[in-house]
Amino acid sequence: MNRFHGKTVLISGGARGQGAAEARMLVAEGARVIIGDILDDQGGALAAELGAAARYIHLDVTSEADWDAAARLAEETGGLHGFVNNAGILVPGTILGTSLESWDRVIRINQTGCFLGMRAVAPVMARTGGGSIVNISSDAGLRGTPGGFAYGATKWALRGMTKSAALDFVGRNIRVNSIHPGPVDTELLQTRTAEQNALSLAMVPMGRLGTVDEVARLVLFVLSDDCPFMTGAEIAADGGISL
Ligand SMILES: NC(=O)c1ccc[n+]([C@@H]2O[C@H](COP(=O)([O-])OP(=O)(O)OC[C@H]3O[C@@H](n4cnc5c(N)ncnc54)[C@H](O)[C@@H]3O)[C@@H](O)[C@H]2O)c1
Repeated sequence: MNRFHGKTVLISGGARGQGAAEARMLVAEGARVIIGDILDDQGGALAAELGAAARYIHLDVTSEADWDAAARLAEETGGLHGFVNNAGILVPGTILGTSLESWDRVIRINQTGCFLGMRAVAPVMARTGGGSIVNISSDAGLRGTPGGFAYGATKWALRGMTKSAALDFVGRNIRVNSIHPGPVDTELLQTRTAEQNALSLAMVPMGRLGTVDEVARLVLFVLSDDCPFMTGAEIAADGGISL
């Protein structure tokens, strides 16, 4: 398939994990990708592996200046047709176990980063003729999350921000949808103890972790022209954990 021939897609947090899987799959389907992350070595190595179709840019999603630079690069690369708001961190903690400092950090990366990203790239995307934004929320944005208070707050926020942005951008031909993966086998889960991960896995009706490729295939579908009437939707790929 060559669904993304001639199209450019920006992925935040794309140096590893789900974002890296999306970058690989997009390039295989003909896209140019801009990989943004704070992991410069890993992001640079991934771009080198993917060749001329990939560029790496240092992008701390909490920095307005970094977003401006990413938007400029997209403009120079021929515009922007897709954007995956994928960067995120998981800091485990119940409400009583969450310090203000930790809360602020999670909100700033997961939620404010998503806001800054959509605000920075939408004008470029509109000038390109429109496109598709995918915000990576979580099953934690569809249900309560025991022991993940701040993380869950941000993932619910992304779900709501997606719907408001979908309405704000509808006249610019930009679709905005949220994807809600269940537990996926990436380094993110290493921030939790083995016991916490076992408890989370026990809640998944399918009884297994998701894979990065399973999420990436769904992200590509939502980015593509295969679902032109879909905007403001919340799509779960979570082994049934949010049911
Ligand atoms: N792995 C899971 O179980 C799971 C489940 C549901 C949702 N998610 C979400 O999927 C997304 C991708 O996570 P993943 O599973 O691939 O984990 P990951 O930790 O491998 O990837 C997250 C990426 O975000 C980057 N990042 C962190 N802070 C950043 C910042 N300030 N600026 C730019 N990039 C930053 C990291 O460097 C990393 O490359 C996250 O938003 C996460 O919350 C993950």
